[in-house]
Amino acid sequence: MSGEAVRTVTRCRVCGSAEEWQPVISFGEVPLANSFQPTAEPHAEETYPLEVVSCRACRLLSLTVVVDPELLYRTYPYVTSDSETMTRHMQEVVRLCDERSSLAEGDLVVELGSNTGQQLMAFRDAGARVLGVDPALNLAQIAESRGVPTVPEFFDATTAEDIAARHGKASVILGRHVFAHVDDLAELLAGARRLLADDGLFTIEVPYAVDLLDGLAFDTIYHEHLSYFLVSTLDTLFARHGLRTVDVARLSVHGGSILVSAGRAESRWPTHERVRELIAHERDAGYLADEAYERFAARIRETCAGLTALVRGLVSEGRRVACYGASAKGTTLLNVCGLGPAELEFCTDTTPQKQGLFTPGSHLPVLAPDDVRRQPDYYLLLAWNYAEEIMRRESAFLEAGGGFIVPVPEPKVYTEPVIAR
Ligand code: TMP
Ligand code: ZN
Repeated sequence: MSGEAVRTVTRCRVCGSAEEWQPVISFGEVPLANSFQPTAEPHAEETYPLEVVSCRACRLLSLTVVVDPELLYRTYPYVTSDSETMTRHMQEVVRLCDERSSLAEGDLVVELGSNTGQQLMAFRDAGARVLGVDPALNLAQIAESRGVPTVPEFFDATTAEDIAARHGKASVILGRHVFAHVDDLAELLAGARRLLADDGLFTIEVPYAVDLLDGLAFDTIYHEHLSYFLVSTLDTLFARHGLRTVDVARLSVHGGSILVSAGRAESRWPTHERVRELIAHERDAGYLADEAYERFAARIRETCAGLTALVRGLVSEGRRVACYGASAKGTTLLNVCGLGPAELEFCTDTTPQKQGLFTPGSHLPVLAPDDVRRQPDYYLLLAWNYAEEIMRRESAFLEAGGGFIVPVPEPKVYTEPVIAR
């Protein structure tokens, strides 16, 4: 690992405590989830410690190190999926934002981490004025070419003021699966307060820590995801930065996520009953206690051992196994469970930016689905968040006797297109 590219976390980025960390699990040294390699030859690859702790004061789940964002995000191979699941989901986000903020024609919607502009196109189609902010230059260019104006910068108080001066205040500031990637949340929220209209809503979508623990989606833990949130943790965070939680919805994407809106503390928005109910549930169901995190770690070890045994068992019986979807979480899964070319032949992925490269750490060749000459007997589904859609599409593979291995919450083989989770 390279020392200057990482910062060791000392204080909790939500509540500021320094002494309250409960160690949860250490996965050892793992390569960056999206660091696809140009060659399969054995070569030195940067790895970084992947270790999770929980703040006993506010129950933020956090990684212990922060990798330099310049290294992670300036060129970024992750392109927001245009799968049916995501397209439907983005429509739902527009609907929920509209319902919560009563958007009028021409209101400004700013998206942080806007990627290729897909979500903003859905807002634009609904009549909003849109602006993206994304530091990935390669993606900002694609967004621009699709007619979504995009500021190619990290979002902070300065960017926020600049945007407010040029475009006016935002009715909605949206951050979908970007909040967990940000180390300095105080800076981001200071920016949000500067850019938000008086009655605007700051709305984020993050994986829900309750779903992470229950659904054992431990492979969604990688260096890009610095934080994993409960609603109560977000509520604490917002309150410390002059915002108030207004509404929350649970959504099924990415293994279980929440769409949380916060307004200025002094705004007219009441806090919805749903927010209070989820916070009470988190307390009553034990998510504020050490035991929940101890159990999480124990279950991860079981699942990993079970998956490795299942895959190695199939291979020793002469079955051919490959991976489906070179997702970022696949990097955690393969490296943590110790699976690689000894068991797995290749990995298919529809993303042109990943094809022709090799998976981080495990060095499986990434193939376009059309380039697969002989289908394996089993696909280990690394993109399990699209299980339903993928199995439906691959019904011919299943009918021909193929199977999908869904790794979490416990490894399970599917030979028919059924709902996996
Ligand atoms: P994501 O879960 O982070 O969106 O990543 C999913 C990865 O899986 C992404 O690289 C695209 C890939 N993928 C396929 O290869 N085939 C598919 O049918 C779907 C839905 C995704
Ligand atoms: Zn804390």
